Amino acid sequence: MSAISVRNVWVEFGDQVVIENLNLEIASGSFVSVVGPSGCGKSTFLRMVLGQDRPTRGALLLDGRPLRDEPDADRGVVFQRYSVFPHMTVLANVVAGYEFAQSPLLGRLFGRAKRQAVEKAEELIEAVGLAAHRHKYPLALSGGMQQRLAIAQALAKDPKILLLDEPFGALDPGTRAQMHALLKPLWARLGMTVIMVTHDLREAFGLGTRVVAFDKVRHDPQAPGRFGARVTYDLDLTREGPVPVLGFQKPPAPQPLVASD
Ligand SMILES: Nc1ncnc2c1ncn2[C@@H]1O[C@H](COP(=O)(O)OP(=O)(O)O)[C@@H](O)[C@H]1O
Ligand SMILES: [Mg+2]
Repeated sequence: MSAISVRNVWVEFGDQVVIENLNLEIASGSFVSVVGPSGCGKSTFLRMVLGQDRPTRGALLLDGRPLRDEPDADRGVVFQRYSVFPHMTVLANVVAGYEFAQSPLLGRLFGRAKRQAVEKAEELIEAVGLAAHRHKYPLALSGGMQQRLAIAQALAKDPKILLLDEPFGALDPGTRAQMHALLKPLWARLGMTVIMVTHDLREAFGLGTRVVAFDKVRHDPQAPGRFGARVTYDLDLTREGPVPVLGFQKPPAPQPLVASD
């Protein structure tokens, strides 16, 4: 189980409202694609689910309990640019992902536990198609291979939730298609809840079981930071028939711009 509830969440940086009263119920095992214009708060949302950023107001729950507000082994993350350790081989990178999850204080395992970690890492490396490259360093790998390594490293933690922030945005279309072919069966097999931010609508619809669009619907020309993003579209792709447009939140009536004091 790993259902995520986002309840009345606001994120503000100083006087800039980035996310405005966000409410989402994310079902366990779903694959949610998040789309929306640049700067509308998608990465902020992911960082909040990861536990790197905190909501200014509101709550995030994992299976009904408050989500720990620091990153932990429940959550794996892959960013657009390679986040692997450049000084470690492919195998060592994936083993490190596993070691940090098992032994967060030391970040190291020994003896039998270490052998198990290596075995598990070898399996994941095989699953992402890097078996032949396991003793290479990231610099010797192509962009697509580095992203596959980043995915294997994130999966080594056995995360309940996998967070992907434009993970394939820097790849060419062919490599991107290969990554889609890799990710979808991995997700289906591992039963994780995935939240993926993407600019690519085809990718959002091709991989997701649900597509959520964020956008800023209210603008105050005098105070650009006054309003934040909301969910403007929420499409459930698991339903039969034509894709219904669900949950479009009509923008509230404009408020007077007169100062109240
Ligand atoms: N730590 C921060 N401090 C101040 N402003 C931030 C911070 N993180 C993000 N922002 C602002 O929040 C807005 C949303 O950013 P971001 O979540 O990166 O958007 P997106 O991923 O949708 O492109 C931007 O205006 C950005 O400048
Ligand atoms: Mg972003």
